[in-house]
Amino acid sequence: MTDTAIINEVGLRDGLQNQPVPVSTDAKARIADALVNAGVRYLEPVSFVSPKAVPQMADAAALTERLPRRDDLHYTALVPNLKGYQLARDAGYPTVALVLSTTDTFNQRNLNMSLEQAAASCETILSAAREDGIATRTYISGAFACPYDGPVPVALTQSLAERMFAAGSDEVAIADTIGGGNPRQMKDIMAPLIREFGAGRFYVHLHDTRGLAAAMAWEAADLGVRRFDASLGGLGGCPFAPGATGNMATEDLVYLLESSGLKTGIDIQGLREAIALAAEATERPLGGRILSWMASQEKQGKTACLW
Ligand code: COA
Ligand code: ZN
Repeated sequence: MTDTAIINEVGLRDGLQNQPVPVSTDAKARIADALVNAGVRYLEPVSFVSPKAVPQMADAAALTERLPRRDDLHYTALVPNLKGYQLARDAGYPTVALVLSTTDTFNQRNLNMSLEQAAASCETILSAAREDGIATRTYISGAFACPYDGPVPVALTQSLAERMFAAGSDEVAIADTIGGGNPRQMKDIMAPLIREFGAGRFYVHLHDTRGLAAAMAWEAADLGVRRFDASLGGLGGCPFAPGATGNMATEDLVYLLESSGLKTGIDIQGLREAIALAAEATERPLGGRILSWMASQEKQGKTACLW
């Protein structure tokens, strides 16, 4: 049996949310088409958040109408509160992503709630989603380190994950929102959780701020995790998490997993078109490490042989 992994493309949401250049709905729709053409089947294209807080996501409902529709595409919308959940539900999303940060400060900056208020708000959304038949994934954001308060105890992240499962979350995503974690911490957090809940219920969401995302992704894969977020070209950063750079680049994650024998169904050559569109739309250079290597091979007249 072939071992496969799911890569959930979050570039259109996490990637674009703090880009200073406004990206049109049309450009976003073209990027989504290119991603799907490259084999991406899981996408988080939008968040239903306050347009004052995140202007780049103000067209969430309009973009939703423009996304490719096929039975094999799995879309998620991020929701920060009950109002966002209702908007995502009304827009037809079958899965929503909830956010719970690990500290009071981070929850306050991100959601204008304390940690306890944010946890209770997640519990309310989870029970509404259960009634509505909508699948849920709760992000434990700042699971390794908080952008404001520093390192986060392993036990705190674990207890928030347990609390969200107890409240009915189908999946939990362990998110290194600022790229402040390391592989050892990944193991310390995930190994006991996986023993308790099974690897199939976890996502890992990584930012490559300090260059450890690939090592952490592999640590998670080694523990049995097969679901990952990533962002085309490494686009991204959180407007409420100072210092965070982009997500782990989708193309680098595809290369890591495929070269190690895990099928992703995503074609790196195909991703290049989506990345070029995203670079044009955001007016900034984009691309993970593997793209530089491919370009250097091509410059020498060689075909980049990936695996
Ligand atoms: N979507 C759109 N508008 C929303 C909303 C949502 N999910 N939640 C609240 N609003 C609107 C309210 O309707 C209200 O509008 P009004 O001023 O026209 O009456 C306004 O926002 C304030 O509502 P309130 O409930 O007091 O929200 P707040 O000011 O406490 O802000 C959030 C809370 C969650 C809406 C805001 O902090 C936010 O959108 N954060 C997003 C953070 C984010 O995207 N982080 C990155 C991903 S993790
Ligand atoms: Zn992120």
